[in-house]
Amino acid sequence: MPANATLKLDKSDYTLPIIVGTEGEKAVDLRNLRNDSGYISYDEGYGNTGSCESAVTFIDGEAGILRYRGYPIEQLAEHSSFIETAYLIINGELPTPVQRKRFSQLLTENAPIHSGMEHLFEGFPADAPPMAILSAMLNSLGCYYPHLATNDHQRDLANFEETSAIIISKVRTMAAYAYRASVGLPYIYPRRDLPYCENFLHMMFSTPFEPFIALPEVAQALNLFLLLHADHEQNCSTSTVRMVASSGANLFASTAAGVCALWGPLHGGANMAVIEMLKSIHAEHDDGTKFIEAAKSGKADKRLMGFGHRVYKHYDPRAKIIKESFYSALASLGIKNDPLLNIAMKLEEAALRDDYFLARKLYPNVDFYSGLIMRAIGIPEDMFTVMFAIGRMPGWIANWREVASNPKGRINRPRQIYVGPLKRDYVTPAKRV
Ligand code: CMC
Repeated sequence: MPANATLKLDKSDYTLPIIVGTEGEKAVDLRNLRNDSGYISYDEGYGNTGSCESAVTFIDGEAGILRYRGYPIEQLAEHSSFIETAYLIINGELPTPVQRKRFSQLLTENAPIHSGMEHLFEGFPADAPPMAILSAMLNSLGCYYPHLATNDHQRDLANFEETSAIIISKVRTMAAYAYRASVGLPYIYPRRDLPYCENFLHMMFSTPFEPFIALPEVAQALNLFLLLHADHEQNCSTSTVRMVASSGANLFASTAAGVCALWGPLHGGANMAVIEMLKSIHAEHDDGTKFIEAAKSGKADKRLMGFGHRVYKHYDPRAKIIKESFYSALASLGIKNDPLLNIAMKLEEAALRDDYFLARKLYPNVDFYSGLIMRAIGIPEDMFTVMFAIGRMPGWIANWREVASNPKGRINRPRQIYVGPLKRDYVTPAKRV
């Protein structure tokens, strides 16, 4: 492989170094291009831009490969848990039994939220979107732990273990409280004896007079859902976290920004959008055939939600795992005939035979079946994207750490091609028509 590339511009040759990743991914290093030539690279949507070097997650979208810290997602899904995987993603290695115990202890200790924060939930209207509440709450952690949110990366890194445990643990409490506030139910405190997912379901669904005991299959399905969402390299929300972190911002503020970026329907909001789509197909007594035809129009509002991916040009490996586990979750929950699942399967079958989808390499992504799983285990629809955010926290935290600990890091500041008006003189109000 050559060590350099040559670019010819305005009769000059520019030598550009080649960078190669550990999995053989190749890039042309353009960092000095503007200084040397006056040109910038233009890549709206960043489809062809490497924004960083990262050691967290590897994806080969053409081959349908996803690995966290080198470990294939299939192996982690089969053998690991969300919390063990979170440790791996954040710290780079699977924990020893001692490390795992310490991590669990930190999570248990940090599960309750400051009583002052409970009042913040009461300030939101009952129909406030839970993603807005979650982002606000994450950012407000910086008010309750100012010593962990100094915006001095060296000082914030010194407390990284505590800060990351606070986020992983409290995000689940805050999510459950956002739901309880929205339906007018009292908050249920976390329990010390319950594992991560069981504790979340307890805070969501217990009442002061009756504890909710999650079925093992339900807790397992939730565990898998969170594990499969734990990281996904430089997607929209993770890039947002890195962007915010690059200014020196603390971990609470950076992950709060990640939640906002995740909210949209082209990203994490797709899991809600899939269920809305399936419901509207069902309400119109369509078996999916009409919808598929409309989706081929190319119109943005007619897209087959849960299909397509910027990186995967093959079946999303997470979708495959979720789909398989879905059937066993349904069986253990005694759900025999879900009309929305039937429509989803018909849509998938039809799309995988259709030239429009084949030519564009549009396959089901993780969101196509994940909303159905959430629905089956009783999570309300407007909480689906919140569940994605809980799962994605380890990835955001690990990426923040990479930015904060990079001694050569620079603030992320892209350039643009200006296409607005040329210089003109100010017009006084009386002369404006
Ligand atoms: N249904 C119908 N057509 C589609 C779809 C779809 N879901 N997705 C892409 N296309 C078409 C698009 O119209 C375009 O066609 P043409 O070449 O004729 O103009 C072509 O495929 C390429 O699309 P694109 O918009 O350039 O692709 P992108 O890489 O910018 O967008 C995407 C990726 C995920 C935003 C898009 O596929 C999409 O909107 N999918 C539905 C929303 C969704 O499921 N999002 C969840 C993504 S996975 C979870 C996560 O990581 O956030």
